Amino acid sequence: AMESGVARKPITDWEAYEDELRERIGIDQKLMSRITIQAKKDVKTVVFAEADHYKILKAAQIVNEQRIANPILLGNRKRIQAIIDENNMDLQGVRIIDTYEEGEKRAEFAQILFERRQRKGLTLFDAQRLMRDRNYYGSMMLDTGEADALISGLTRDYSKTISPALQVIGVEEGINKVAGMYIILGKKEPYFFADTTVNVNPTADELVDIIGLTARTVRFFDTEPRVAMLSYSNFGSVGGDIPSKGAEAVRKAKQRYPELLIDGEMQANTALNRNLLREHYPFSELAERGANTLVFPTLASGNIAYKVLQEIGGVEVIGPVLMGMRKPVHILQLGSSIRDIVNIVAIAAVDAQNYNKQSI
Ligand code: ACO
Repeated sequence: AMESGVARKPITDWEAYEDELRERIGIDQKLMSRITIQAKKDVKTVVFAEADHYKILKAAQIVNEQRIANPILLGNRKRIQAIIDENNMDLQGVRIIDTYEEGEKRAEFAQILFERRQRKGLTLFDAQRLMRDRNYYGSMMLDTGEADALISGLTRDYSKTISPALQVIGVEEGINKVAGMYIILGKKEPYFFADTTVNVNPTADELVDIIGLTARTVRFFDTEPRVAMLSYSNFGSVGGDIPSKGAEAVRKAKQRYPELLIDGEMQANTALNRNLLREHYPFSELAERGANTLVFPTLASGNIAYKVLQEIGGVEVIGPVLMGMRKPVHILQLGSSIRDIVNIVAIAAVDAQNYNKQSI
């Protein structure tokens, strides 16, 4: 009912709303409630690049009312206002920015982008044209400090939405590749999957980067990572590119992150079933508790795995969490629910609080 376009009565108490959701879905949201409480302690400004959309406006209303974030709505003013009126939404006092009304700002942003990318084939004319795209404009708001985090991607293809952010915001210092993570709220504990959204066919060295980035992000969620590098083989049982790059990544990751509990390459059931590990692979570091963090060898495997779980696994998933950006940017998956969006906003807001400590 939430997404049918029919207005619901405004939710005025976040805890009550959480209880309602928990009842409906039957999942203990400990992980997210911690994040939500933290977000409220120092409220950050989050810009929505696709605000002329019912779900985004509804999520913006929720985060605004619950003081999880200060939303800024980027989009066609008339269209946004029409959706607000039609659905009796309360977004009083929330700033709407229509980039078409912002000629001066667009010119200023275009100049900055031009200076940054003039030696990468970008002309000033191109930069001016790009600033009409809200993903560029929103990224520039983040870059210049007019907002603390950027949320986009509800209606457009992931790769088209991430490109502007990569070009304007780019990666954090010391990080080679950004990557995407999903949290799977299992019955006993949360699981963390990566890379589910960005790198199509990472090399062994890129996997080492992804492992480091993912481990750091798992710790951001107050969980100690136990990482399995996945494959269709167990510890060299089958030859091939994927088993050998996985084994190489594990070898290198053990050297680079001596504190990290990691093993592989291994099959997914081996990683998750400690009885199987104990019986057949008792030498493995993961034999005691099994893995809670799964690193996939290719984007195809990671992306497909979480989507299958989401649709038929009866579990809740949170994400995608984009890791390694210089500032908090998160690209929603096509068709995310209002609940998905609120979750990502809370994560982005806490990420923004930690921005100087660079936690995601
Ligand atoms: N990490 C860090 N930087 C990167 C990465 C990365 N993983 N990939 C590209 N970049 C850099 C580029 O080198 C470039 O640098 P430059 O500004 O110095 O020139 C900059 O980011 C901009 O890149 P683009 O040219 O815009 O994009 P590129 O052609 O390199 O492609 C992309 C990057 C879009 C992420 C591509 O790898 C891709 O399409 N990945 C798959 C995305 C996808 O479809 N995911 C599945 C669906 S997601 C879901 O289901 C929710």
